[in-house]
Amino acid sequence: MQADKITTQTISLLKGERPVVAVTAYDTQMARYADEAGVDLILVGDSVGTTQLGFPTTVPVTLEMMLHHTAAVARAAPGALLVADVPFAVAHDDFPGLLQACRRLMQEAGAEAVKIEGGALMAPKVKRLMQAGIPVLGHIGLLPQSFHQLGGYRKFGCSDSEKSVLVEDALALEQAGCFALICEMTEGTVAGAIASQLKVPLIGIGSGPHCDGQILVSNDLLGMNSGYVPSFVRQYAQLGNEARLAFANYAEDVRNQKFPS
Ligand code: KIV
Repeated sequence: MQADKITTQTISLLKGERPVVAVTAYDTQMARYADEAGVDLILVGDSVGTTQLGFPTTVPVTLEMMLHHTAAVARAAPGALLVADVPFAVAHDDFPGLLQACRRLMQEAGAEAVKIEGGALMAPKVKRLMQAGIPVLGHIGLLPQSFHQLGGYRKFGCSDSEKSVLVEDALALEQAGCFALICEMTEGTVAGAIASQLKVPLIGIGSGPHCDGQILVSNDLLGMNSGYVPSFVRQYAQLGNEARLAFANYAEDVRNQKFPS
């Protein structure tokens, strides 16, 4: 557990001091484990859709689902900063709709900041949210909510034109007031170049070692995946195998009348 409550300012000030440690969590118990391990930032990602709710992408995730899971994580009262993802349909709502959704994530569910996918196009909305007292974590590079538009997930920043767009996106979001940015699936040297131009931390996922911190989806790092694991992930445990074995041992004991003894 962190000695002091981590705030958006704490995260911003980590730039140049040490890497930001971030993970996703979707329920109270997992948030407790992550917080007790001393992570800086817990994201209730809309990856809840693919990791917990059985959807093929994050697109079907609704605001109600995000409220439900964010509130569960908030009940862990983490010392880490608690950030909630703004889901697909809401992020592209008109500004009053977006503002109302962000307020609900903070007031009803207990988020301390929100994350919004999108670059320079989202910057004007980010600026208005900041003016309304809503801290925003930006998200550039691969934007999983655009899955159907992209036709799949892929690496970003591999061409000069894409690199320039990413730099513009990052600078626009910083200018709009984001306290930090996530950079997903971006070519490593490009992510490093973006990080060096920002005053706020660039937190990478699948974007190499030159970012100002890292975030991983907790199911991936814990080995609780039912199939595909992105190639950039390092698995620190195999909890899926452990769970399968425990269920199998239990089933065998019940069938053989060894439990209860
Ligand atoms: O939803 C999520 O978990 C995310 C991370 C991959 C950054 O956006």
